[in-house]
Parts: sequence; structure tokens; C-alpha cells
Amino acid sequence: MMNIGLLGLGTVGGGVYELINQREDMNVKYVCCLEEPQGMRAILTRDFNRIINDPEIDTVVELMGGMNPAKDYVVRAMRAGKNIVTANKLLIAECYEELTQLAIECGVIVRCTAAAGGGIPWLTAIARCNRVDKISAIYGIMNGTTNFILDMMHRKKVEFDAILRQAQQLGYAERDPSADVDGHDIRNKLIISANVAFGVSMPPSEVDVFGIRNIRQADVATFLSKGLYCKLLASSQRMGGKVTAYIEPTLVPGESPEAAVHENFNLIGYDARFAGRQSFYGQGAGRYPTAYNVVEDLLDLNQGEASFYADKADQIHISNELAASSYYVRTSKPDAWLQERTAARWGEAYITKPVTVKAMHAWARQSADPELFLAAIR
Ligand SMILES: NC(=O)c1ccc[n+]([C@@H]2O[C@H](COP(=O)([O-])OP(=O)(O)OC[C@H]3O[C@@H](n4cnc5c(N)ncnc54)[C@H](OP(=O)(O)O)[C@@H]3O)[C@@H](O)[C@H]2O)c1
Repeated sequence: MMNIGLLGLGTVGGGVYELINQREDMNVKYVCCLEEPQGMRAILTRDFNRIINDPEIDTVVELMGGMNPAKDYVVRAMRAGKNIVTANKLLIAECYEELTQLAIECGVIVRCTAAAGGGIPWLTAIARCNRVDKISAIYGIMNGTTNFILDMMHRKKVEFDAILRQAQQLGYAERDPSADVDGHDIRNKLIISANVAFGVSMPPSEVDVFGIRNIRQADVATFLSKGLYCKLLASSQRMGGKVTAYIEPTLVPGESPEAAVHENFNLIGYDARFAGRQSFYGQGAGRYPTAYNVVEDLLDLNQGEASFYADKADQIHISNELAASSYYVRTSKPDAWLQERTAARWGEAYITKPVTVKAMHAWARQSADPELFLAAIR
């Protein structure tokens, strides 16, 4: 019988508690949360020391989110010899190297399948693929909130602000939507996925990210008139010893699989030498899909499954100068750099010749236009 200390009883933690209570092979002994919910079978505590000092506890499930105190609790639990299951993408993306090394030092396992892909068994699929094959690229739609917004803008012809408000009412978007619409949530998922896929540890600050905050209905109308759909795509490729990693709005043909991903669904995949292209479609978030993957991780632990990250992660720099495409750029502040690289115009927008991802994002970061929107053309 696994004895678990559960940290956090919110959207995912509450779902995990429910699923575990339906099982015979695991038991939530403690719940560490700020409130005092009624009718709990577990011991409620705000004192984390009680959990790590209890020798019966073999596993700590961290579902509080954020860096503090989540990191402190996870590190202390590992030092006390407890295995960790978490869905905390921020923590894992920012501290990947430190936590995976500490796990090895402490002889414990950290699993975080729900941190990238929510309910999709994505990291475990990558790990299985790596046992036989070599992954060369990962890509896809990794955030349901932004996919919902873009999908509605294409299909219902609504403006960004109106659909963002609706996404907030439906509970798809947070009150502060920045982490989703500015691409930071996807960045964390891409980092974790690429680290596991390529056996590396990439610096989060070097991932080029451009979000969808500035997309307007007029942009979408232009894309649709050309048979294109705009999707917020994450990409990372391994090229020899180098790795690219970036997130940007991307124009894909109407007949591509990405264009057919509606509402808040995700579509993520990899390219591998023998397995070829494999794609995974499903719920990338939500109480039960995410809780499902947390419980799957617990079962893997229980069955003695090893960690899915490599024992040694190479610290790398991201090489986005190796990826290039043409871009759609809508700006009221074109400069000589943009004009020199312009190959065509779509209405007011500039269509560039192939430009490296690194150069395009560097130009966007220094642009004085707060309304700038860009999208790669695939
Ligand atoms: N929601 C999803 O669909 C989803 C999908 C994939 C991954 N995740 C990840 O899963 C994690 C949890 O997300 P969530 O949506 O479940 O968040 P949430 O609903 O905000 O739940 C977090 C819970 O942790 C509690 N908490 C915060 N600080 C605490 C502390 N110091 N001690 C004890 N309890 C504390 C909160 O209590 P209060 O409410 O009282 O503050 C809340 O009950 C995050 O890392 C998130 O990124 C979520």
C-alpha cells in the first residue's frame, strides 16, 4: 500500500484525492492545504514537517503550484527519501537540472507526466520512444486556452477580447491570462518535453516566445482568405548536438491536422527515426484528465518504474539561428530591417523572406510597436 502526503487540494489536488479514494492500492494519509475542508478521511495539516517526518509516507504529491513553497517542500521531501509526483510545470521547467540531479543523489524518483500534456500520456510516450529510437523533433499545440481563443476567432469570427472574456467565464482562462496568451505556460511544457526527449537541460530564458495577445479579427480574415489557420505552436528540434526551441503563432494549411484541432484540445507529437511522426490528441488540462495522469505516475512508481528523465542532462544553449521561415508581420512601425527582408505584402502586413527564428524574435523584442503581431508561415 502506497502512503501519500498530498500537498494542495485545488482543481487537480481535489481530483487526485477523489481518484485515490476509489482505489485499494494507495492511500492519502495527509493532506497539506490552507483551508479546512470537511469530511476528509486523510489527516489535514498545515505542518509539512509532519509529512516528511512520518516514515510511513513513501510519496509526496505536490499540487500546490508556483515556486514557493513548492520547491522547498519538494526538495525537503526528496532529502527525506520520499518519491515525488507533481504537475508543477513551472517548478520542473525552471529547476529541471537541480531536481533531476537531486533525485539521483537521494535515490528517489520524480515523475511529472501531468506537467506537460495534462491528461495526455505524452512524457511517458517520449520516454518509451527513447528506449528504442531517437527523437529528432517535438512540436504541437500545447495550450488549450489559446487554442480555444484562436479556434473561436477563426470559426465564429469574434474579436480577441470578447473570446478571452468568454474563455474566462468558461473557466478555460485565468483572471490574469498572461501565462497562457503570452506563451509562458507553453514555454514551460516545451522545456520539460524537450529536456526529456533530448536528454538536455535548456535555459528557460533562451526560448523565443511570441504569444497571441495582439492577434485581431482582421489578421484572421486575411489568413482564412489564403486557406491558412493561425495556431500557437511550440517547436523544438535536435540538429546534431544543437537544439532549437521556440513558441510562435504559426500559419498552417487548412487541411493540416493542427487546423482541425478545435476548442481547448491539444495536439502534440514527435518525429523519430524509426517510429516516424507520432501525434497525441486530447485534453491538455482540466481536473480529471490531469488527476488521471498523476495517478498513472503513482502506479508507475508503485510498480518500480524508473524515472523517465535521462540520468545525465547536457546543459545546452538554444540554437534558434538554425530554424527559419517566412513571417507575416503586422506593424505600424516598419523599419529598414523589416523592409529589407520584405518579399510581399498582404494588405497592411509584411511577408518576409525566410528569416531565422532568432533574428525575427530579436527584432520583435526591440520593436516600439505595442500592437505588433507576427506569425511564422509553414
Ligand atoms: N488545472 C489544470 O488543469 C492543470 C493542468 C496541468 C498542470 N497543472 C498544475 O497543477 C498544479 C496545481 O494546479 P491547480 O489548477 O490545481 O491549482 P489550484 O486550483 O490553485 O490549487 C492549488 C492548491 O494548493 C493550495 N496551496 C497553495 N499554497 C499552499 C501552501 N503553502 N500550503 C498548502 N496548500 C497550498 C491552494 O490553496 P488556496 O486555494 O487556499 O490558496 C489550492 O488549494 C499547478 O502546478 C499547475 O500548473 C494544472
